[in-house]
Amino acid sequence: TFVVTDNCIKCKYTDCVEVCPVDAFHEGPNFLTIDPDECIDCTLCEPECPANAIYPEDDVPAGQEGFVALNAELAKDWPVITERKDAPADAKDWDGKPDKLGLLER
Ligand code: SF4
Ligand code: F3S
Repeated sequence: TFVVTDNCIKCKYTDCVEVCPVDAFHEGPNFLTIDPDECIDCTLCEPECPANAIYPEDDVPAGQEGFVALNAELAKDWPVITERKDAPADAKDWDGKPDKLGLLER
C-alpha cells in the first residue's frame, strides 16, 4: 500500500485524490490518509503530491514508520474524498516543516 506521511499535515493539497482509481483517500481536518484495504499500489498518486508526502509502505522516510498504522487507523474513521479542493491558505508556509504530527487534528 501507499502511505501519506508527515508533510501532508497542514498542507493537504488534495491533488492526490483525483487520480486514485479505487477512491482510497480519506479526509480529516488537516490531513489525508490512504486506506490500505483499498489501495492497489497503482503508484499514480505519489507524483501528484506537491508536498512529496506519499510513499510506498516499504519506503517511508526514517522516523515516519508510524504513519503506516496511522493511515490504516484514521481511514476507518474519516470519509472518502475523491474531488480536489482548495488547500489551506497557509499551506505553503507549512510545506517542508518537520515533525508536524503533534499538529494532526482528528
Ligand atoms: Fe490510490 Fe494508486 Fe495511490 Fe493506492 S497508489 S492510493 S490505488 S492512487
Ligand atoms: Fe496531502 Fe499531498 Fe494529498 S499534501 S492531500 S498527500 S496531494
